[in-house]
Amino acid sequence: MTADPLPETVGQLTETLRAGGYLADRGLTTALFVAISLDRPILLEGEVGVGKTEVAKVLASVLNRRLIRLQCYEGIDTNQALYEWDYARQMLHIRALSEHKVADADAVDKLFGPKFLLERPLLAAVRAGNQAVLLIDEVDRADDEFEAFLLEVLSDFQISIPEIGTIKAPSPPLVILTSNRTRELHDALKRRCLYHWIGYPPAEREVEIVLVREPDVSPALTRQVVAAVHRLRELDLAKPPGVAETIDWVRTLHFLGETDLDPVVAADTLGAVVKEHDDLELVRDNLADITSGA
Ligand SMILES: Nc1ncnc2c1ncn2[C@@H]1O[C@H](COP(=O)(O)OP(=O)(O)OP(=O)(O)O)[C@@H](O)[C@H]1O
Ligand SMILES: [Mg+2]
Repeated sequence: MTADPLPETVGQLTETLRAGGYLADRGLTTALFVAISLDRPILLEGEVGVGKTEVAKVLASVLNRRLIRLQCYEGIDTNQALYEWDYARQMLHIRALSEHKVADADAVDKLFGPKFLLERPLLAAVRAGNQAVLLIDEVDRADDEFEAFLLEVLSDFQISIPEIGTIKAPSPPLVILTSNRTRELHDALKRRCLYHWIGYPPAEREVEIVLVREPDVSPALTRQVVAAVHRLRELDLAKPPGVAETIDWVRTLHFLGETDLDPVVAADTLGAVVKEHDDLELVRDNLADITSGA
């Protein structure tokens, strides 16, 4: 697979993303365009469910690059991110060697050769270079040491494996990091990256997004749902709904054959959009308001 040529203008990238089912505003497209063109990693922060992860997936697909995803979590360490030795296969190999009594030095060296190396996302990305989009998802969940380690990888895109040598990316992959800001990231990491904040889209754009993802649903119903979701976001909810929830809600109503969002229908389908017990109570008390007019 060879990656497609890069878009030449911001406008072209907007169109390419749209063709892949992603609607980006000018700010986001510009940031992505600069990141791609100048080989800079980009950090996307924003509300929950506003398309941070999705934009990396769509970019990989429309640029015809391989998507390599490193999902971060508490306690993630370099083994899971970089590479591991395949112990099970090494053991089998050792057993075979000893049965045939051929355990010379060379055979032992081979135990730590490419054949027994398990590639993890960062090594895969270094090898793939600009044929890949590397998504480092939810980096705020990883701990400090892991962040420091990422910084090293991002600064020179080379990985040293003592038994094999240094592997360097022929040209860096496009790197997209996402964070939900459950904690502040370090300045050093931010300095390496371009930065873009993705907020909730304005209502007209959100309607468009839903219709791009769900072309069969009614635009009128979508407008009603988007208006209701925007009211929900004004309430003081523990988990305000993201674009993902808007899409889910419209999809649910469409599936049930509803054409209109009234308080009764809304109450029956709230599970698609409000997912906290306390939030549910607050919302139930205000349903007439929330669904009134669009
Ligand atoms: N601008 C957009 N264009 C098209 N689809 C979008 C857009 N924004 C959000 N979506 C839709 O919303 C869904 C959720 O987006 P995504 O999972 O990328 O959110 P996120 O910001 O990564 O959320 P989280 O913080 O929960 O990880 C996507 O599957 C996609 O369908
Ligand atoms: Mg995400």
